Amino acid sequence: MTESDSSPALENLLNETRTFPPSPDFAAGAVAGADTYERAAADRLGFWADQARELEWSTPFTTVLDDSAAPRYGWFTDGRLNAAHNAVDRHVAAGHGDRVAILWEGEDGESRRITYAELADDVARAANALTALGVATGDRVAIYLPMVPEAVVAMLACARIGAPHSVVFGGFSAEALHSRILDAEARLVITADGGYRRGAASPLKPAVDEALAKGGTAVEHVLVVRRTGGEVTWTEDRDVWWHDVVPQASAEHEAVAVDAEHPLFILYTSGTTGKPKGIFHTTGGYLTQVAFTHRAVFDLHPETDVYWCTADIGWVTGHSYVVYGPLLNGATQVIYEGTPDTPHKGRWWEIVAKYGVTILYTAPTAIRTCMKWGSDIPAGFDLSSLRVLGSVGEPINPEAWMWYRRVIGGDRTPIVDTWWQTETGAIMISPLPGVTAAKPGSAQVPLPGIVAEVLDDAGRAVGNGQGGYLAITEPWPAMLRGIWGDEQRFADTYWSRFPGIYFAGDGAKKDGDGDIWLLGRVDDVMNVSGHRLSTTEIESALVSHPWVAEAAVVGASDETTGQAVVAFVILRGGEEITDRPDDDAEVVAALRAHVGQVIGPIAKPRSILVVAELPKTRSGKIMRRLLRDVAEKRDVGDVTTLADSGVMGLIQQGMAKPT
Ligand code: WTA
Repeated sequence: MTESDSSPALENLLNETRTFPPSPDFAAGAVAGADTYERAAADRLGFWADQARELEWSTPFTTVLDDSAAPRYGWFTDGRLNAAHNAVDRHVAAGHGDRVAILWEGEDGESRRITYAELADDVARAANALTALGVATGDRVAIYLPMVPEAVVAMLACARIGAPHSVVFGGFSAEALHSRILDAEARLVITADGGYRRGAASPLKPAVDEALAKGGTAVEHVLVVRRTGGEVTWTEDRDVWWHDVVPQASAEHEAVAVDAEHPLFILYTSGTTGKPKGIFHTTGGYLTQVAFTHRAVFDLHPETDVYWCTADIGWVTGHSYVVYGPLLNGATQVIYEGTPDTPHKGRWWEIVAKYGVTILYTAPTAIRTCMKWGSDIPAGFDLSSLRVLGSVGEPINPEAWMWYRRVIGGDRTPIVDTWWQTETGAIMISPLPGVTAAKPGSAQVPLPGIVAEVLDDAGRAVGNGQGGYLAITEPWPAMLRGIWGDEQRFADTYWSRFPGIYFAGDGAKKDGDGDIWLLGRVDDVMNVSGHRLSTTEIESALVSHPWVAEAAVVGASDETTGQAVVAFVILRGGEEITDRPDDDAEVVAALRAHVGQVIGPIAKPRSILVVAELPKTRSGKIMRRLLRDVAEKRDVGDVTTLADSGVMGLIQQGMAKPT
């Protein structure tokens, strides 16, 4: 079980008794009612088949679930379709070409409004341009872009020709980008000169140049969007400007119909080892569940709603709930390029008021940050258009939930706390806003068509009031189909803890009503501002620095970011290290920068402590639990299994020292 299980904070959490039922008005107009659960419970596969038929198939499917090669399940296997056609062209054909698809707001104040008809043209042109650059169906394309409309166009252009995309978050380093390009054997990289962040142009192209200079890749071309107008170095014959090839290409393009099980994208996420996992998703099942959940969970009425999800396309939330979900449903959505506090801390609320946003989907860390900035900031804007609020990425504490509802939602909006993962592809556990009486802090119930359980160590479902591990006990359409190039790791990571059952890696508890409360990861994965980081990956980054002999990393609780990275390092002795400053503070600064270089700024530890020893068991395993106690400034727990029980005293003394 998770160690936090018996903490007082958690006990308070589980004593949370407030509930917020939907208003009768909301319930009456809601997309999904209680009958949705009944329908799915009566015939789960039939329910998903109905959802899949909401998409347009060039070859209709007859098989719903193929479990013959489990855990490599297949959905709608004999059907064929195209993702981009479904996300864009279909709406134009249905007469909605003039509807706005994207209301784009640049950080620098620039804005663009793109209709479905315009988006259809842009995607077709980009698809033709990719083909002209030699990208064929099945080839992989790496996308390393800021939040500009071209990012959406690029992803859909790949989908249109059946070339799986691998989006790499723009905050990752050249080294991280290189390993992802290599792993996916990408043939093309789509990037930009840079993007705007925190009021300044932040370059991206140099990281691509540096990544490709490391060699070994299959990349033939780099397609570069001009966003900031900053200087770029150019490699003739390899680099191509987007504006030189995309607008000129024909807007006539025949979408490539692919098998339902054709890979749509690869997305890398941190696991428990140093090497990120290339989670891959296929087409038919993924689109089915993403479209259904986006409609039902956010109560989307595409003719009237203005939807805004603040996630970056570099994360799965950006894939499922910025690109595919909203567009499949013909929604009008806001996309914002920059940070919430640029040029002022009311920027988000200004955007809500400007566009009349009705549905807002964001992360608890952002909500807590806004709480810290103060309620008077959102109070300065008209937020009365909002009618549904969503949360994702980590458990939302009841206090932040209440603030979100009261200050942002004017005490009237339902809140949907949505639990899911890169691996699940789409939302799995969440209230339905027109049905569920919401409880602050709980994701509550599996969605219609999803079967989840909380299991004990032996794999038995726990009763109400008990805790255990979250597991998904039946296959679901948007499930990951594997780890790119590593079938064994797929089987080991997800399907072996409880044989044949999907192990999510999260601790969970059922309350007296049977509602599910998520308790955080039970493995070596940290969750910092809703982003997954691996302790092992950061430890390897630290020991790759010549000054470091050994490193241990833990996730310590943090009021704003949920968890924060805290590292303990032992420095190398010996004569050969001549360039190391005597001052620990300088060493720490250099090591933080090094982690930023190897993985990306998001992985930089909040603090690094230089220590003489690390607490280890007699078998040599680092006891992270004790380090977490130190990092969270708690009394250190049981040290009897330590090889050297004096070590903790030394480390705590070090912690008391200012660094
Ligand atoms: C955590 C993000 C509690 C969880 C979509 C999961 C959550 C990991 C919630 C996946 C939530 C996500 N309540 N915890 N509503 N949503 N998580 O792959 O630990 O970036 O395993 O996907 O985030 O993170 P990922």
